[in-house]
Amino acid sequence: MIEISPLLSDPYFSRLKSLVIEVTGMAFYADKDNDLALIVSDRMSQCGVKGCALYLERLQADKGEMEALVAELTIGETYFFRHMEQFQALRQVVLPDILERNAGTRRLRIWSAGCATGPEPYTLAIMLKREFGARIEGWHVSILGTDINQKFLTRAREGRYDHWAFRATPEQILRECFEPVGKQWQIKPEYKSLVSFQYHNLTQNRFPSIVDNIAGFDIIICRNVVIYFSPETVADLVPRFHDTLVEGGWLVMGHAEPSMDLFRQFRTVTFPGAVLFQRQDASAFVEPARLAPAPLPPMPLPARPTPVRRPLPVTKPQPVAVPAATLDNPPLDHLRTLADQGRWDEALAACDQLLRHEVLDWRVHYLHALIQEQVGDAEACEAGLRRAIYLERRAVMAHYHLGLFLLRKDDADGARRSFRNVLTLLVDQPEDSVVDEGETLTAGQMRETVAMHMKLLGGSQA
Ligand SMILES: C[S@@+](CC[C@H](N)C(=O)[O-])C[C@H]1O[C@@H](n2cnc3c(N)ncnc32)[C@H](O)[C@@H]1O
Repeated sequence: MIEISPLLSDPYFSRLKSLVIEVTGMAFYADKDNDLALIVSDRMSQCGVKGCALYLERLQADKGEMEALVAELTIGETYFFRHMEQFQALRQVVLPDILERNAGTRRLRIWSAGCATGPEPYTLAIMLKREFGARIEGWHVSILGTDINQKFLTRAREGRYDHWAFRATPEQILRECFEPVGKQWQIKPEYKSLVSFQYHNLTQNRFPSIVDNIAGFDIIICRNVVIYFSPETVADLVPRFHDTLVEGGWLVMGHAEPSMDLFRQFRTVTFPGAVLFQRQDASAFVEPARLAPAPLPPMPLPARPTPVRRPLPVTKPQPVAVPAATLDNPPLDHLRTLADQGRWDEALAACDQLLRHEVLDWRVHYLHALIQEQVGDAEACEAGLRRAIYLERRAVMAHYHLGLFLLRKDDADGARRSFRNVLTLLVDQPEDSVVDEGETLTAGQMRETVAMHMKLLGGSQA
């Protein structure tokens, strides 16, 4: 293995460090040269590269290596029912509030940002189903877990865990919600089916963005993630979380995280052992009486305090900075804005209006389809995507979303076909050219994303 000291005196080490921090947002590494050098030197010896300059070249040329480095830098410490007080606040006040407010639309959208291997979003699924099962019968519930670490995401999708992940989980929940598989525990399908996972880099991918499926959430939970970021990065993220919530939606951050000052836009609500933030909306305030200290929780408190562990950062292929694709079409822009803000009903009304005049514009059908998916109308979503493709065979984003849609429907062959269409359409596109209707998404990034889905599907990319 390469010794640490030569790496630290390598003239390109600081450039490597800047790249790591830029790509992951993990300013945590700014003063952890030894830790970083250890991780990097290990990766360098794995790929047989000597010196930071060559390794930098390798990182630029080989997205897989960047992914492997990110996987080593990131800290995935997580477990079920972590910080129980926050789950109690969600269970006793936040979820009843949202279920009441969404009774008309019968939709619930939750985002676990920085979900690691998945216990956080699965805990939410278990709590929802067990505590509110009857009330959400027939609802369109979606819990999305995102992370920058592809290895964590693969494990999250598997949903199988060692006993240690249940150190704060009541025994009864473990036995009733999981099946033993060897020495591990597999989450049961009725809970698993509520949760989906996707790659997302909080510091590099723009949000809110309906195109990325990151918009209009009722709850965002982002815990033990921003502790690794610089104060500037966090100050940039908090208003974006705000804009990614529907009015009256709730933000849950780690209990010892950013300064309260950053949450001025929100209403701060204190619960026993937890502080949550609600996006202000004159009509959405919870009555003060309902915020009174909750009765004693029936779920046990964490069995032991959260172990303090050395945090690790993550990296992911660095998106190319490109200008956003701009279309001079104000009504369409307005529609995108409504959709990004999760104002689904207004967005659908705007679609209907546009469709009266622009029936042959694939973009309107495409956006209409994405919105239909968010409001839970799978049939309309699929029909809309197919119509968009019928109108514009080269509509890469429509093929891509159709692939994702079919993947969720467990139609692996159909999904593979759609992803292959994407790759075929992009075959001559330069790496950094922007994909039409993909916002800032480049052809290179799209190829990489599709390749990842193909890999998970186990299909050939040819
Ligand atoms: C300590 S885990 C927290 C897991 C879970 N939220 C919890 O509290 O149990 C931190 C997670 O943040 C992810 N992460 C770090 N930087 C990120 C970024 N820029 N974008 C998205 N996720 C990131 C890591 O990969 C890791 O899985």
